[in-house]
Amino acid sequence: MATLWVALDVSEREAAEARMACLAPHRTFKVGLELYHRIGPEGVLHWTQQGYEIFLDMKLHDIPRTVAGAVANLARLGVSLITLHVSGGRQMLEAAREAAPSTSLIGVTVLTSLGSEDLAGLGYTSSLPELVALYAQTARVAGLAGVVVSAPELPAIQREWPRARLVVPGIRWPGEAADDQKRVGQPEAIVAQGGTDLVLGRGLWQTADPVGRLEALKRLAT
Ligand code: C5P
Repeated sequence: MATLWVALDVSEREAAEARMACLAPHRTFKVGLELYHRIGPEGVLHWTQQGYEIFLDMKLHDIPRTVAGAVANLARLGVSLITLHVSGGRQMLEAAREAAPSTSLIGVTVLTSLGSEDLAGLGYTSSLPELVALYAQTARVAGLAGVVVSAPELPAIQREWPRARLVVPGIRWPGEAADDQKRVGQPEAIVAQGGTDLVLGRGLWQTADPVGRLEALKRLAT
């Protein structure tokens, strides 16, 4: 059964709570950088104390000691998942895991908004699938709970690391715009291929009936 994380990609607490109310009794939400930098840790704590499960998509990337300290403080908010960039290196990932042993830490491999040409422009010589596989292996060795991957790389990572939490953003329905995402996938295929956690962002709100779309997805994911 996959968990459906609804991304609260808005700038104001009121707008986030309006979306939460619209989808009630849904309880699993993702808070990213945009909203976190508005509501802060107190805002997140307020929701976890109300029984919401929060995926804190902080995409941390710094020296090991700094990331470990940040993860320890974030874990105290009672959040379920925290993301950090695998490109920060194995030592950083291990320091984070030691700092928050009971929180699921998820490694960001390659952002779904990046394509092969972007990686080449940044000086990477590995192909995109090779890089994602290498990052997933690094996350696994460092003891993380799983990785963020996009739909095209999901089957390969699932084969290599079947017990991982495989968090998949960039979900779109047939005929819908990819927006700034370059690697997108459709929900049926992602669930069938072993995605354990689906991130629902613009795809959920692009329809006139987000509640109906979420209900249909819940049936698919169970
Ligand atoms: O709106 P859309 O469906 O593109 O939303 C994608 C969500 O997933 C955003 O909140 C974005 O920050 C997040 N995400 C992503 N790529 C990653 C990790 C998280 O798009 N690698």
